Amino acid sequence: MKLIDGKQTASEIRAELKNEIDKLKLSGKNVPGLVAILVGENPASEIYVRSKSKDCEEIGMRSKVEKLDAGVPEKELLELVDKYNKDKDYHGILVQLPLPKHIDEDKIIEAISPKKDVDGFHPVSVGNLVIGKDTFASCTPAGIQELLVRYKIETKGKHVVVLGRSNIVGKPIANIMLQKKEGANSIVTICHSAAKDLAQYTRQADILIAAIGQPKFVKADMVKDGVVVVDVGINRIEDKNLPKGYRIVGDVDFDEVAPKSSFITPVPGGVGLMTRAMLLKNTYKAYLLYGE
Ligand code: GUN
Repeated sequence: MKLIDGKQTASEIRAELKNEIDKLKLSGKNVPGLVAILVGENPASEIYVRSKSKDCEEIGMRSKVEKLDAGVPEKELLELVDKYNKDKDYHGILVQLPLPKHIDEDKIIEAISPKKDVDGFHPVSVGNLVIGKDTFASCTPAGIQELLVRYKIETKGKHVVVLGRSNIVGKPIANIMLQKKEGANSIVTICHSAAKDLAQYTRQADILIAAIGQPKFVKADMVKDGVVVVDVGINRIEDKNLPKGYRIVGDVDFDEVAPKSSFITPVPGGVGLMTRAMLLKNTYKAYLLYGE
């Protein structure tokens, strides 16, 4: 069994990007910029946005956080998005989700220019992914593929089984792995909660991607020997022995499944950190494609 180290890989990606940005600075060029828009006071969202902004600063990218009151009218948020659509210093726009109930999330996502859609949530980006055009893929699935590639895990012709069908992970990772490209070209099955017997699908997986949001859901008898396991889950479970009273576990029962697997991502320290790194990579890509 080999551990897939997301922390190490994310740090390598940041170093690579920093190197590119240092070169831009030396030649007097503009640098990539990311604006994160945060509405309201959701503590988890505040932490996410702060981390993303810190990541940018660490590698020399321009970064800005726009904080708006929870009660901000939808129209004002749309105007702010439009302002950044036109701003040449910001190549990526991220509107942190979830948004307050009075704001239509889809409408906001659709207002972001697809050229600055570094989250990969815009229907244009999603559509381009499905038809195999180069685009912004959402960051968690992009991070999963990056891990598979960097660990030189064979994907061509392999059976990838995706557990979960969310728009942010399940559907995009299935589409990524289906593409006739390097690091993909897989046979893909998507399964989900409506399956009568999920294990009959998961046992067929050469590569199992678990993204169903249920703690330790995947057990040893649900996988075959030598499986590659990518665990996307981030679940809190009670642990009175810890000062904070909980710990984070994945969707996979690591202790049971790790001995049967050839590669496995831990939680924490696996996919989670890659999401942030891919946001930086997408912002750099937006800069290269559409910036100046
Ligand atoms: N909320 C939780 N995860 C994400 C993410 O990846 N992007 C945005 N915009 N909001 C989120």
